[in-house]
Amino acid sequence: MLSTQSAPIVRDTLPAVGASLGAITELFYTRMFEERPELLRGLFNRANQANGAQREALAGAVAAFASALVEHPDERPDAVLGRIANKHASLGITSDQYTLVGRHLLGAVKEVLGEAVTPAVAAAWDEVYWLMANALIAMEARLYAEAGVENGVVWRDMEIADRTEESPDTASFVLRRPDGLPADPFLPGQYVSVQVELPDGARQIRQYSLSASPDGKTWRITVKRERSADGRVPEGEVSSWLYAHARAGQILKVSLPFGDLVLPDGDGPLLLASAGIGITPMLSMLHHLATVSPDRPVVVIHADRSPADHAHRLELSELVGRLHRASLHLWYENGVGEWYETVAGEQGEPAAHVAHVREGWADVTGLTLPQDTTAFLCGPLPFMQAVRGDLLTHGLSPAAVHYEVFGPDLWLSK
Ligand SMILES: Cc1cc2nc3c(=O)[nH]c(=O)nc-3n(C[C@H](O)[C@H](O)[C@H](O)COP(=O)(O)OP(=O)(O)OC[C@H]3O[C@@H](n4cnc5c(N)ncnc54)[C@H](O)[C@@H]3O)c2cc1C
Ligand code: HEM
Repeated sequence: MLSTQSAPIVRDTLPAVGASLGAITELFYTRMFEERPELLRGLFNRANQANGAQREALAGAVAAFASALVEHPDERPDAVLGRIANKHASLGITSDQYTLVGRHLLGAVKEVLGEAVTPAVAAAWDEVYWLMANALIAMEARLYAEAGVENGVVWRDMEIADRTEESPDTASFVLRRPDGLPADPFLPGQYVSVQVELPDGARQIRQYSLSASPDGKTWRITVKRERSADGRVPEGEVSSWLYAHARAGQILKVSLPFGDLVLPDGDGPLLLASAGIGITPMLSMLHHLATVSPDRPVVVIHADRSPADHAHRLELSELVGRLHRASLHLWYENGVGEWYETVAGEQGEPAAHVAHVREGWADVTGLTLPQDTTAFLCGPLPFMQAVRGDLLTHGLSPAAVHYEVFGPDLWLSK
C-alpha cells in the first residue's frame, strides 16, 4: 500500500507524470542501454525498441498501476502485473536487475520533469516503483518456485526433433530434451521463449505458444515468418531466421513454459476465437479439451487470409470434430472456394461440426452464445478488439473475455 505521505503527492503529480510517460520511458531505455548495451543485444527485443512498442507497453503498465494506487491507496493493484511477471519469468529476469531499472526509470522522471521533481516527489514515485517492483519480484519468485528452478534459471537446450511446413510462411517445430527425458509439462495456452543468435552476433529472444505436445513428451511450437510487406519495415528477425535456418537435429535454447492465459478447468461453455498465427494457443487448448473434456460446449472461430494461408487447418477441424458439442466457424478474406481443403469431411461436403465457411472478416454478431460463455481471443489487436466489442454486445461480461497479444500488450495504453 502507498504511504499516507506519498498518496497525495502521487495523486497531484500523476497528471504531469502521465502526460510525459512517453518521453520518460524513451529516455529510460536510452540511458539504461548507454550504461548496459549488452541488455539491448542480449535480453530486450530490439524491434520493440525500434518501433516504440516496448516503451508504450511500459508506460501503459506504469500509468495503470499508479492510477489504481491513487484510487485505492490501501491496495496493491496486482491485476495488471500477471502478464508482465510471466513474460519476465520466461526471460529469466532476476530480482537484482530491478535496482538498475529503478535507478534509470526514476532518473528519467527527474530528467524529463526537471525542477517539478522535488525530493518529496522523487520519494513518492520511488515508493510507487518499488511497490510495482516488489510485487513483480514476488510473483516471479513464485513462478520460479512452481517451475522448480532457482531465481531466473529457466533456459534449457532443446533439440529440434521434427520440422513441418504448415503453410507457405509457417513452420512447426517439435522440440525434445537431448537427454531423452520428457519435456516439462505445460498448461494449455502457455508459451516458451526461444533464443536465437543472429548473424550480427546479437542474441534475440521471442515467445512462441506451445501448440501441442506430440506424444506427451515433446513440445511443438509453430512459427510464422514476418515478411517485410512493402519494404517500409524490416522483416521479422527471429521468425525469419527460424524459418530459414532451423532444421531437425539442431539445438535451440528454450525457456521453461510460462504464461497466465490458460484454459480454466470446469465444464462451462467456451468460445475460442483466433486469426492467423493466433491459432497456436487455441490448438493447445483444443488438444486438451479433446483429451480431458470432450463434452464441454465450445464455439471455435478462426479467421485467415485464405485456406492456403491457414496453418494447421486440418488439425483444427479434426480436433473440433473430436468434441461432442463444438462447432467450427471459418472466415477467409479470399479463396473461400477452396474451403473444402480446410475441413476433415468428404471433398465438397463439410464435416458435421463445421458450422460455416464464409468470405470476409470474422463477424460473431450472428452467433448464439450462452451468457456464461468464457472467451479466449488471440490474433491481431484490431481483430481482438472487434470480437471483444461484439461479445460484450452479446451480453458477455468483460471479465469473461480473455486475450493473448503476440507482442507487448498495448491494449492498456490505448
Ligand atoms: C505470448 C506470445 C506468444 C506468441 N506466440 C507466437 C506463436 O505461436 N507463433 C508465432 O509465429 N509468433 C508468436 N508470437 C510472436 C513472436 O514472439 C514474435 O514477435 C514474432 O515471431 C516476430 O518476431 P521477429 O523477431 O520475427 O520480428 P521482429 O524483428 O521482432 O519484428 C517485429 C515487427 O516489428 C517491425 N519492426 C522491426 N524494426 C522496426 C523499425 N525499426 N521500425 C518499425 N517497425 C519495425 C518488423 O517489421 C515486424 O513487423 C508470440 C508472442 C508472444 C508475446
Ligand atoms: C517495476 C519494474 C518493471 C516494470 C513495470 C516492467 C514492465 C514491463 C512490461 C509492461 C513489459 C511488456 C510485457 C508485455 O506486455 O509483453 C515488460 C517486458 C520486459 N521487461 Fe520489464 N518491467 C520491469 C522490470 C524489468 C526488469 C528489472 C528487467 C530486467 C532488466 C525487465 C526486462 C524486460 C524485458 C527484457 C521485457 C521484454 C521486452 C520485449 O519483449 O520487448 N523488466 N516489462
